[in-house]
Amino acid sequence: MGEIRVAVAGAGNLCSSTVQGTHFYAKAKEPLGLLHPTLGGYKPTDIKFVAAFDISEAKVDKDLSEAIFAKSNNAPKIVVVPKLGVVVKMGPTPDLIEGTLSSIKRAKAEAVDVAAELKKAKTDILINMVSGGSDKASTLYAQAAIDAGCAYINATPSSIAGDAALVKKFTSTKLPLAGDDLLDQVGATAIHIGILEFLHSRGAHIDESYQLDVGGGAESISTLEKTKDTKRRIKTAAVTGHVPYKFPLVSGSTDFVDFLGNGRDSFFWVKGRYFGGVPFTMDLKLSSEDAPNGGSILLDAIRGMKVAKDKGEKGLVAPVCGYAFKRAERTSLAKAYEAFRELTG
Ligand SMILES: NC(=O)c1ccc[n+]([C@@H]2O[C@H](COP(=O)([O-])OP(=O)(O)OC[C@H]3O[C@@H](n4cnc5c(N)ncnc54)[C@H](O)[C@@H]3O)[C@@H](O)[C@H]2O)c1
Repeated sequence: MGEIRVAVAGAGNLCSSTVQGTHFYAKAKEPLGLLHPTLGGYKPTDIKFVAAFDISEAKVDKDLSEAIFAKSNNAPKIVVVPKLGVVVKMGPTPDLIEGTLSSIKRAKAEAVDVAAELKKAKTDILINMVSGGSDKASTLYAQAAIDAGCAYINATPSSIAGDAALVKKFTSTKLPLAGDDLLDQVGATAIHIGILEFLHSRGAHIDESYQLDVGGGAESISTLEKTKDTKRRIKTAAVTGHVPYKFPLVSGSTDFVDFLGNGRDSFFWVKGRYFGGVPFTMDLKLSSEDAPNGGSILLDAIRGMKVAKDKGEKGLVAPVCGYAFKRAERTSLAKAYEAFRELTG
């Protein structure tokens, strides 16, 4: 099928797990943890990283294989990544505000022309994985993808797929777009949807439910300082509508706990009634690592977008959005999987 030429904006933890995944599954005896060993004819090993952008002093000018293990990344190391021959270039910094906990030590280099770099690298897809709350940078990278003729995947909570004017631009330039905010493999939002769908399918009535997270790592600081309200809106909207009646429902992030590292603790609460109107409660906790939780889904989203691009899809690619992103139209996870597999099958 050939290769998939991918550029990354943001060489953070999610990027680390995604790059590592393409090497891990090249050697793994069994594809444990991978939803689709082959998708639309593409294997994870067909993904080639051809360009990278970051703004951190610890990452810019380094080979991508080194940058993904540089400070403050703390995603689990699952494989040795060989030198990739892709030097991380300086990106634009329109959102950087010094003096906050989440501020990044800016590299001294001048920002490059992102669209020109994407063209030079013959990029198929640009993935936006910059720090949460970098709304202006996320829009600049989207415009660069359009200028360079690339597909664009927005893994961040910034509103890109949710921005009608940007979607129109991708449609009129005949380029595919997917986003926003990656829906993790065994993440709190997917599990919360699953619990609610399951209880409804078993005839239980749900009276109220909430889901809250605490996490470590740079992205949890960004969430606390910049995107807490946005995340709460996106996550609550993502779990709403999976049961055909309304009930009090909250889903969001709450706080940063530094010693959790890349870890995340997710708490789930459900109160409801079943046979005879008898009440029940459910109180669950999931402990996971953040970056690998996104890696598997992102390897699928990349391959799904390449198939969409090969098929000439333009604008929002609904089956990729519904399968892999929180901010998407979706009636059930099962239907979202079905639509994704129809596109890629
Ligand atoms: N499971 C997941 O990891 C997951 C799930 C859903 C959404 N996301 C989103 O993906 C994004 C990345 O998550 P992460 O955990 O890797 O975060 P991270 O903080 O580990 O990495 C972000 C990287 O982006 C870089 N960056 C910041 N501004 C930039 C700019 N203007 N240009 C280029 N690089 C820039 C930072 O220096 C850092 O290297 C976040 O927006 C997060 O909300 C991640």
